[in-house]
Amino acid sequence: MALCDVTEPSSLPPHLEVRNLTSMHGDVLIQHDLNFTVQHGDIFIVMGPSGSGKSTLLRHLVGLDRPASGTVRYEGTCIWGCGEVEREQIMRRIGVTYQSGGLWSSMTLVENVSVPLQRYTRLNSHEVRELASLKLAMVGLAGFEDHYPSELSGGMQKRAGLARAIALDPDLLFFDEPSAGLDPVTSRRLDDLILALRDNLGATVVIVTHELASIFAIGNNSVFLDPESRTQIALGDPKILLRECPIPTVHAFLTRGSDSNLLAPTRAVAAAPRAAFGQA
Ligand SMILES: Nc1ncnc2c1ncn2[C@@H]1O[C@H](COP(=O)(O)OP(=O)(O)OP(=O)(O)O)[C@@H](O)[C@H]1O
Ligand SMILES: [Mg+2]
Repeated sequence: MALCDVTEPSSLPPHLEVRNLTSMHGDVLIQHDLNFTVQHGDIFIVMGPSGSGKSTLLRHLVGLDRPASGTVRYEGTCIWGCGEVEREQIMRRIGVTYQSGGLWSSMTLVENVSVPLQRYTRLNSHEVRELASLKLAMVGLAGFEDHYPSELSGGMQKRAGLARAIALDPDLLFFDEPSAGLDPVTSRRLDDLILALRDNLGATVVIVTHELASIFAIGNNSVFLDPESRTQIALGDPKILLRECPIPTVHAFLTRGSDSNLLAPTRAVAAAPRAAFGQA
């Protein structure tokens, strides 16, 4: 299948560059020949149907799992081609929130956010607590320092995960399904928070999501992973892809399949006379 590429060419050096990346779990091919670049300040969306390999790709990008082949470069340095020490240095500049949440349930919020500070800085315990509290305040969780994750709502847990991801002032932030399971208003607030963090930290953001509202509200670039052909089939601003991409899979995803009349029954109910519900 031909690639639908609506990317604006840029003469600036990319922040993150993926070349010829192939992803496998054991003998099973997940994705092959992924090629895309993320510019400084981008909010780059990794999208595609469930099981297409988005979380797997994320783990290659953040240095957790080595891809079967191909390169991932941060400002020119290949995260999988360099030694352990260099990879650790790159990973220190990356903040990640995982799909499963990933907070340590036996630790309070301030202890959770302190972990990367203790590991990677020489701050004393008082300074670590101060800085961790500041990060919690940045995501609207001031006053919850000594709460345990189980004492928080889902949205608060997501924000606590964000606080931990920004502990070391990363210049690249990765989020795997940050708004999954949240109500639309909380989800919208989380989008605003991600935008604010991008602006305040001057960071680049890569988000795995299939929340259409988020994709269109904050994404300015994207890659679409296709589970059938097991490779990327679209690249570029999701709003432009929505208007211009002729590939049915991409179009159906970006319109939530509404072209195939999935929304028709809802409209029919909404348009039904009130008498039908006995409220005339
Ligand atoms: N640790 C693993 N070992 C073997 N196979 C795996 C492993 N993790 C994921 N897979 C398989 O790889 C494929 C891609 O999984 P992945 O979690 O990357 O998909 P995804 O696009 O993130 O899906 P979702 O939208 O549901 O989160 C799936 O078929 C999955 O079963
Ligand atoms: Mg996933």
